[in-house]
Amino acid sequence: MGQELLQLLDERSFPLKELRLLASARSAGRTQTWQGSQLTVQEVSEGAFEGVDLVLASAGGSVSRQWRSAITAAGAVMVDNSSAFRMEADVPLVVPEVNPEAAFGHQGVIANPNCTTILLTLALAPLAACRALRRVVVSTYQSASGAGARAMDELKQLTEVVLQGGTPHSEVLPHSLAFNLFLHNSPLQANSYCEEEMKMVNETRKIMGLADLPVTATCVRVPVLRAHSEAVNIEFNEPFPVAEARQLLKAAPGVELIEDLENNRFPMPTDVTGRDPVAVGRIRQDISNPNALELWLCGDQIRKGAALNAIQIAELLMSSS
Ligand SMILES: NC(=O)c1ccc[n+]([C@@H]2O[C@H](COP(=O)([O-])OP(=O)(O)OC[C@H]3O[C@@H](n4cnc5c(N)ncnc54)[C@H](OP(=O)(O)O)[C@@H]3O)[C@@H](O)[C@H]2O)c1
Repeated sequence: MGQELLQLLDERSFPLKELRLLASARSAGRTQTWQGSQLTVQEVSEGAFEGVDLVLASAGGSVSRQWRSAITAAGAVMVDNSSAFRMEADVPLVVPEVNPEAAFGHQGVIANPNCTTILLTLALAPLAACRALRRVVVSTYQSASGAGARAMDELKQLTEVVLQGGTPHSEVLPHSLAFNLFLHNSPLQANSYCEEEMKMVNETRKIMGLADLPVTATCVRVPVLRAHSEAVNIEFNEPFPVAEARQLLKAAPGVELIEDLENNRFPMPTDVTGRDPVAVGRIRQDISNPNALELWLCGDQIRKGAALNAIQIAELLMSSS
């Protein structure tokens, strides 16, 4: 996440006077080249936030909880990538293309949503603006990168082991992803949904401003290195013509339509890897329900699903100051 944030700050010419890189004592003293300058990583401390306007926090929930008050006391706005504060009532959960207005109600902290939820809401919002949503059913196909750089390395290494005829043993993920897939490994909740699935349910409702929207999710980890995919069934209060949905999604900000029916060509993770848009396609009438549409989407979850969305939130705040 940190590396991706640095790349995006550069690519998008984010207007900075000073950039501070913070980490634990493990990385303090390491250097990083950014826009031709050598920056030295500092150990996070209260003093590190002095004079800072914006903190892009991306070191996990417990670290975010530990430093929240020091950050806000220093007068900085914290855009937090962890799940620590997402469901707090006074913390806006923002996808700039979907609910930008929410960002301006912040009280020092804005939460960056879960990656699969960001990708889903980009496709839901333009449709929900035209017909009331009644229910959303989503199944995810989540890549190794969602579990961090070490999980990506493990997938490559264990794929090699299988190709050589060996038996793969995973250490980073709970099971080997090589030529395999498994249900998302986040902790199971009392209702037998895993944490990732309940994040999708609760965060989708909060971002869409539909507290009672029925949403159900099944999250699966698949042997893809980077970029998540989702199969989505969306039910409305009335029929939604496919051609109209296609036009709306084609025109929607942050969405790219990949829909070549003649050649049976629809979004794939490799179409969006390292890219900003969420690719949507295979929009079709649900043959089992006259009021529902089916669609498929792919998005780079490190980019739009995380770092890009965080930077866009910061840009949004600056646009009003
Ligand atoms: N990977 C994704 O796709 C993704 C997507 C959305 C959100 N997120 C969230 O973003 C956060 C980071 O994910 P990641 O994949 O980038 O993890 P990561 O590669 O493990 O990076 C974590 C960073 O946090 C620093 N850190 C760890 N403990 C610290 C501490 N006590 N104090 C200060 N800095 C500390 C680490 O530096 P040291 O080397 O000093 O420990 C490292 O720079 C997590 O909350 C994750 O849930 C990740």
